[in-house]
Amino acid sequence: ENEEDLEERAPVVTIMGHVDHGKTSLLDYIRRANVTAGEAGGITQHIGAYKVKTESGRTITFLDTPGHEAFTAMRARGAKVTDVVIIVVAADDSVMPQTKEAINHAQAAGAPIIIALNKIDKPTANPDKVREELAQMNILVEEWGGKYQSQEVSAKTGLGIADLLEKVLLEAELLELKANPERQAIGTVIEASLDKGRGYVATVLVQTGTLQIGDVVLAGSHFGRVKAMTDHRGKKMKEAGPSTPIQLLGLDGAPQAGDKFVVMDSEREAREIASNRSQV
Ligand code: GTP
Ligand code: NA
Ligand code: MG
Repeated sequence: ENEEDLEERAPVVTIMGHVDHGKTSLLDYIRRANVTAGEAGGITQHIGAYKVKTESGRTITFLDTPGHEAFTAMRARGAKVTDVVIIVVAADDSVMPQTKEAINHAQAAGAPIIIALNKIDKPTANPDKVREELAQMNILVEEWGGKYQSQEVSAKTGLGIADLLEKVLLEAELLELKANPERQAIGTVIEASLDKGRGYVATVLVQTGTLQIGDVVLAGSHFGRVKAMTDHRGKKMKEAGPSTPIQLLGLDGAPQAGDKFVVMDSEREAREIASNRSQV
């Protein structure tokens, strides 16, 4: 890759933490959406992917992961495609098993961690207790002389959220994230399923290059020509550049979450590779 072809790209930020510590609520506040209200039992069961513009006009791509203990694989996957991880800990609770698990995934993936001490609006919030518990795991926050940025926030009132986003952007700047938007797209499958009306739908994250309608995509042991692309609101898109999550229609099956996808020059070649892979 030529240095001069590289352009700055938005950071991909994965939100992780224990069940009900407020990950989706935090994202709802940031996006001015209300995903939490529509979740069965108030439990997130899949990875949500959103591109958001901050008040300062910068773009951040967020992945929302489930905190329930059953979804370890999704958290691991989220950590693998991310640039920065936000670990959400409810300040009226404690560092819990999935908090620890999420920190381990982030560290295994080599992603910088920012701590969000959430639910700070609650009278029972005790952020110092949580800082202390984190320190016991060698996660020492900056206010205490450590290297981890942290921010007290409330997903309910919005307190501290703008500051949290600025800290994310600061962390991302240090990483000098770049990609070449001119090349053929490469990315990762976040999840995929069969939709009754639309056929196979894959949520993918474009990591470099630009994906276009009509491109031949090879994803794991499946392939197809991109028929349509939509963002998380269902808005049709003609193309998707680096750090953009989209839903893609046109594959001949559902690839595995975590599969890489690439754009190929020829449909014949894509079919051949896909068919070889599916015979293994
Ligand atoms: P999972 O995805 O299921 O792991 O949960 P989550 O971490 O996404 O938590 P969720 O956003 O579903 O919030 C759990 C509960 O905490 C909901 O009832 C929210 O309304 C509440 N909640 C989240 N953030 C705050 C906050 O900052 N303050 C208060 N008071 N309540 C909050
Ligand atoms: Na929840
Ligand atoms: Mg959630």
